[in-house]
Amino acid sequence: MNIVLLGPPGSGKGTQAKMIAEKYGVVHISTGDILRENVRNGTDLGKEAKTYMDAGKLVPDELLINIIKDRLAKPDVTGGYMLDGYPRTTPQAEAMDKILPELGQKIDVVVNIDVPDDELVKRLSGRRMCKCGVSYHLKFNPPKKEGICDVCGGELYHRDDDKEEAVLNRLEVYKTQTQPLIDYYNKAGIIADINGAGEIPEIFDEIAASLDKL
Ligand code: AP5
Repeated sequence: MNIVLLGPPGSGKGTQAKMIAEKYGVVHISTGDILRENVRNGTDLGKEAKTYMDAGKLVPDELLINIIKDRLAKPDVTGGYMLDGYPRTTPQAEAMDKILPELGQKIDVVVNIDVPDDELVKRLSGRRMCKCGVSYHLKFNPPKKEGICDVCGGELYHRDDDKEEAVLNRLEVYKTQTQPLIDYYNKAGIIADINGAGEIPEIFDEIAASLDKL
């Protein structure tokens, strides 16, 4: 099963992707995590991506298309994968439509998580991240021990792009550049719409019900 997770910043893509990957045994591929790892390691890609990311802008399409092309060619994806954060623009979706047949793959479902803007701002301002990719929220989803990741024991941090100005940019970028993909995949008849405004376990059950129908 190959899944795309679509949704605005803070809609819970990363949170749900971890749970889905565990239940269905698919590989979680987050382009945001890949980019942040490159930033941490000071690679050329990381240096180029950082200025865009900190400002809440999208990293140029050609860089992302190359990242995803390399990632989907790795052997661990044969048991299925979940793309979290890709595609984010129409050119990225079109590029993927060319890459997948070459790799003998297809997307089975696009899970579209919808959450109102005011809720997104609350979620992002209270989010704390671990470098292992797990995200927490100070109020809605706190770690067992303050400031420490439950999974790997790493120290939690506040993402630079979760500052207010960057968050507002990211929401605007989502509306202009990513939201058109809902139509793109509706036309392909593979969208599952999910109300992402409830509690984390309820949303997970709703997503799981859509995946179980496949
Ligand atoms: P990326 O890391 O993909 O960020 P994003 O899409 O903006 O999404 P987020 O990680 O902010 O949110 P999420 O939906 O995963 O929510 P989460 O589960 O953490 O990308 C970062 C940047 O990288 C981009 O801005 C861009 O610059 C670049 N980039 C990445 N991919 C790219 C691409 N394809 N093309 C170009 N550039 C790209 O949840 C958020 C918070 O809410 C957490 O605190 C969580 O605990 C909490 N929460 C989750 N669910 C609930 C709930 N139901 N109720 C209450 N709280 C909840």
